[in-house]
Amino acid sequence: MSRKILLTSALPYANGPIHLGHMLEHIQTDIWARFQNQRGNHCIAVCADDTHGTAIMLRAEREGITPEQLIDKTNAEHRKDFEDFLVKYDNYYSTHSDENRALSEFIYKECKAKGVIKTKSISQAYDPEKEMFLADRYIKGTCPKCGAEDQYGDNCEVCSSTYSPTDLINPKSVISGATPIEKESEHYFLSVSDYTDMLQKWTRSGTLNEAVANKLAEWLDNGLQDWDISRDAPYFGFEIPDAPGKYFYVWLDAPVGYMASFKNLCDRTEGLEFDEYWKEGANTELYHNIGKDIIAFHALFWPVMLETSGFRKPDGVWAHGYVTVNGEKMSKSRGTFIMARTYLEYLNPEYLRYYYAAKLGNGVEDLDLNLEDFVQKVNTDLVNKVVNIASRCAGFVKKSGGILSETVSEPELYAHFTEAGAVIAQLYENREYAKALRQIMALADKANEYIQEKAPWSLSKQEGTEQEVLNICSMGINLFRVIITYLAPVVPNMAQKAQAFMNLDNLDWDASTIPLTGHSINKFKPLMTRIEKDTVEKMVEATKAAAEAEAALTSASSTTKEVTKKKQSNKAEADSNEITFDDFVKVDLRVAKVIKADHVEGADKLLSLTLDVGEEIGERHVFSGIKSKYQPEELVGKNLVLVANLAPRKMKFGMSQGMVLAAGEKEFWILEAHEECQPGMKVS
Ligand code: 2FM
Ligand code: ZN
Repeated sequence: MSRKILLTSALPYANGPIHLGHMLEHIQTDIWARFQNQRGNHCIAVCADDTHGTAIMLRAEREGITPEQLIDKTNAEHRKDFEDFLVKYDNYYSTHSDENRALSEFIYKECKAKGVIKTKSISQAYDPEKEMFLADRYIKGTCPKCGAEDQYGDNCEVCSSTYSPTDLINPKSVISGATPIEKESEHYFLSVSDYTDMLQKWTRSGTLNEAVANKLAEWLDNGLQDWDISRDAPYFGFEIPDAPGKYFYVWLDAPVGYMASFKNLCDRTEGLEFDEYWKEGANTELYHNIGKDIIAFHALFWPVMLETSGFRKPDGVWAHGYVTVNGEKMSKSRGTFIMARTYLEYLNPEYLRYYYAAKLGNGVEDLDLNLEDFVQKVNTDLVNKVVNIASRCAGFVKKSGGILSETVSEPELYAHFTEAGAVIAQLYENREYAKALRQIMALADKANEYIQEKAPWSLSKQEGTEQEVLNICSMGINLFRVIITYLAPVVPNMAQKAQAFMNLDNLDWDASTIPLTGHSINKFKPLMTRIEKDTVEKMVEATKAAAEAEAALTSASSTTKEVTKKKQSNKAEADSNEITFDDFVKVDLRVAKVIKADHVEGADKLLSLTLDVGEEIGERHVFSGIKSKYQPEELVGKNLVLVANLAPRKMKFGMSQGMVLAAGEKEFWILEAHEECQPGMKVS
């Protein structure tokens, strides 16, 4: 029976453009939804803009427009960015909507009726000039610990100490420059701790990745604090019923936005029932795809809101890591804080969809967009491997009439391809896209080997081989069809073009179990072109230029204090040779078996090594400056230690994908070949 699934991505804030960090999550969601639908399930994906809060209010003010105008403008831009990245939401809505107001009020009233809302007077920083309360990030001053100037109200970027804004020396409101005062006001709280038992069970019921559940267990064991759900006017949001001048905190109505977006879809879709997906006891599936920074909101507060108000809780909260570019945090000055729109001006969205998928697992590890590797991987996998299969076969089929053979010449090879579908589907289901794509690329390698071995281009030069050539190329096209079927969730446009070429009604997952015989195909048109390194460089330059232009615009308001701060923080970085434990655990050390070792022509010190790094990582190729110590043949079969997650480096002789550990005067660490020592095993 087909499954009914509702899937969401976190709602992007409406105060800025979509960048490549956001895109990871939306691509991840889209691939999963497309995969489910291709399998015959009914998966609906919804999203919306997260439109409330102080940041949006202030930004609109700065731009001289109303918050409504700002969020409408942003909504149109966000929708277009997603559409152009082929991210298809069944509904992309807004939290500033009637549905969201009604649902948020309903949930609040239910919580209140059940005694889960409490009020308490609290004292907070207040800007007497602007007449508003100030969140910590709107206060700056001198760090009480190290004296660094111009530090935010909650932590010092120079000495990393944390404190409360009242500890800052000479605090100032970022908004007006006035000195904040302390002021009392009444706030509304959700008593999350009443639900500790429920949360303890729910977080351990398979809803979360184990590492995330462990982290939450720590918080739960330490006792939960009540959650402040109100903010005082002025605030852009929904006013709390019966509490004039008090507004729901943006994080109260944001997740309700998932429901509201779905409700809006239901109201205009025949047969789609809100309750079937949201009422307590619903037997449909619900998943939220989010970033690791917002787990608490989704896995502590949200389940409590749902439970109290008679709604079902999600079956899964899937958290992913952040995007880094070239191994570092995205940075405006390096040109790596790339906006979705800038990317689209230069590059095909499917390149990024493929690259992200090729590196995505289902955990919270960060994903590095290494721009050199990006070019290489996309060109190698999609263009050289996948497209190549069809382009090498299509011409011969066309020449002999455009109709595939009546028989499949290698049924076992075909069966191998279709049988792989079950494993690949399970990997997609578990959001192990990188592993799924590795399996698919292994099939592409097999298909290419088959064509290479049969060499229809040579055969066709001989007399009377026409049928044999057609058989080979028909086989190649059938293998290509299976591969494209498996790849379709990741590269939907390319898949669509391939579908048109193969003259197919659909690319349903199971359809390819039956090969195409006596089937006419269409003219082959290029499915994907190579990425040019230059184009990527231009995109980075454009990003840098945009950041510089933006900086120039704001430089009038930048002070000498900011320059001092920058200098101080650079110094702190340079003084320290230590790495933290977190830095250390990032190093992925693996057992790597040498399967091939060669001299490198023209290089005095280098050997070229091909390594087997187990199933998960596959084969790697590295250059190592070890020639003085070893003859290549004595290394073959040896187990070495590879730093597997080192960014690939372009060397004069080619790409080096990692580094092998050596000790003292250039001697490899060769591991004893005992049974447990298998390629790919982690070394710690
Ligand atoms: O962190 C963010 O970008 C939030 N705007 C995500 C909200 S997700 C959901 F709860 F609305
Ligand atoms: Zn400090």
